[in-house]
Amino acid sequence: MRTQVGIVGAGPAGLMLAHLLAREGIDCIIVERHSRAYVEARIRAGVIENWAADLLAATGAGARMQREGLVHEGIEIALHGARRRIDFKRLTGRGIMVYGQHEVVKDLIELRLASGGKIEFEVGETSVHDFDGKAPKIRYKKNGATHEIACDFIAGCDGFHGVSRPSIPKGVLTEYERIYPFGWLGILSESPPPSHELIYSYTSRGFGLYSMRSPTVSRLYLQCAPDEELSKWPDEKVWKELKTRLGPDGDKLLQEGKVLEKSVTAMRSFVVEPMQAGRLFLAGDAAHIVPPTGAKGMNLAIADVLFFSRALAEFYRSGKTALLDGYTAKCLTRVWRAQRFSWWMTSMLHLNPADSPFDRKRQFAELDYVTTSDAAAKSLAENYVGLPID
Ligand code: FAD
Ligand code: DHB
Repeated sequence: MRTQVGIVGAGPAGLMLAHLLAREGIDCIIVERHSRAYVEARIRAGVIENWAADLLAATGAGARMQREGLVHEGIEIALHGARRRIDFKRLTGRGIMVYGQHEVVKDLIELRLASGGKIEFEVGETSVHDFDGKAPKIRYKKNGATHEIACDFIAGCDGFHGVSRPSIPKGVLTEYERIYPFGWLGILSESPPPSHELIYSYTSRGFGLYSMRSPTVSRLYLQCAPDEELSKWPDEKVWKELKTRLGPDGDKLLQEGKVLEKSVTAMRSFVVEPMQAGRLFLAGDAAHIVPPTGAKGMNLAIADVLFFSRALAEFYRSGKTALLDGYTAKCLTRVWRAQRFSWWMTSMLHLNPADSPFDRKRQFAELDYVTTSDAAAKSLAENYVGLPID
C-alpha cells in the first residue's frame, strides 16, 4: 500500500489529522490497534477549548457537537464546601464546550469512513521504519498477514504507550517528567450532575471533580492513590465519598445513578523534545502528557495536528519545509504553557501527602485568591477556555 501520510493511532490526534489532511487533498491511512467499537466507547476527556470547538465546527466535524454539546460559561471552585464561581464569559468573553472525547472520536470516524478514507482497525505488531530517509514505512499484522504502508511521512499519534516514540533512536529525545503522588478514581454515571457547571472541589479529604457528559449523565472524579485498587471502591463507597467532598449539601445535591464505568488514572506531566525525528512526527499524548486537572490533553492533541497539517499542506503545495522544520518549536510553545497550567491547577487543588502545614495554608490562600480576585481569576479563565491559537 502507498499513501502520503501514514498515521499510527485513531485517537483524537490521528483522526483529527486525517480529517484536516483530507480537506487539503492529502492522502492518508490510519492504523489502529483496537476495534472501532473499543475506541468509540473509551471514556476520556470531556472539555473542549473554545478555539478547538470552533475548528471542529468550521471544518465540518462539529454538527453533532453543536447540537448535543453543552456550552459552559464558567466553573465553580468549592473550598471546603463553599462554592465560588469563575465567570469565563465575563472575564474572557468566551466559554468551553462540554462534549465527550469518545463522541468526537465517533464523529471523526464516521466522517472519515463516509468520505472513503481508510482506517485499519485491530492491527497488531505495528512498527515504523526508515523515517531517517525520504521513504518511511509502517508495518503491521492483520488477520495473520503482514502489511506494509509506504509513505512520505509518518504521524506518530499512538498515545503515551504507543510504538512511535520508542522507535526514535536513543539520544535524539530529551524527556521531561514529573510523577504526582496521587491519581483520579473516575466514574461515569446515569444521573444528573449536581450543578449545571463543573465543580472543582478542594477538601481536607482530597480533591473531587463533578463534571458531566449530558444533563442526565455525570462524570465524577475523586483524588485517590496513583495505584488505588478498584476492588476497594464499591459503588456505595464512591457515592458516599463524592457526597462528602461536595460539601455539607452533598447528600442533597448529588443524585446517585447506575455506574456505567469506573477506572483509576495515575497522573504525570511529560514532554519530549524534539517532537520529530526525520520524517516521523509525534503528536498528542505520544509526545506529551498533562495531569488531567484543567482538561488540556485532548486540546493539545488537536493543536499539534492542526500545526502538522498546515506544515504538510505547505510542503505538498510548494515543496517548502519551513513549517515542518519548525513543527517542534511551534507545538512546544503551547505545550509548555499547558504544562504549566495543568501542573498549577493540579498542585493547587490536590492534597499532596508530602506537603507541610505551611504548604496547606499557602494552598488555601492561593485558592482563596484565585476565587476572589478578578486579576487572578482572569489568568485561570483565559488558560481554561484556551489560549489563542495562531
Ligand atoms: P490517544 O487518545 O491515547 O490515542 C492513541 C491511539 O493510538 C489509541 O486509539 C491507541 O489504541 C492507538 N495505539 C496505541 N499504540 C498503537 C500501536 N502500536 N499501533 C496502532 N495503534 C496504536 N483531555 C482534555 O483535553 N480534556 C479533558 O477533559 C480530559 N480529561 C481526561 C480525563 C481522564 C480520566 C484521562 C485519562 C484523560 C483526560 N484527558 C483530557 C486527556 C486526553 O484524553 C488525551 O490527552 C487524549 O486522548 C490524547 O489523544 P491522542 O490521540 O494523542 O492519544
Ligand atoms: C473532565 C476531565 C477533566 O480533566 C477536567 O479538568 C474537567 C472535566 C471530564 O472528564 O469531564
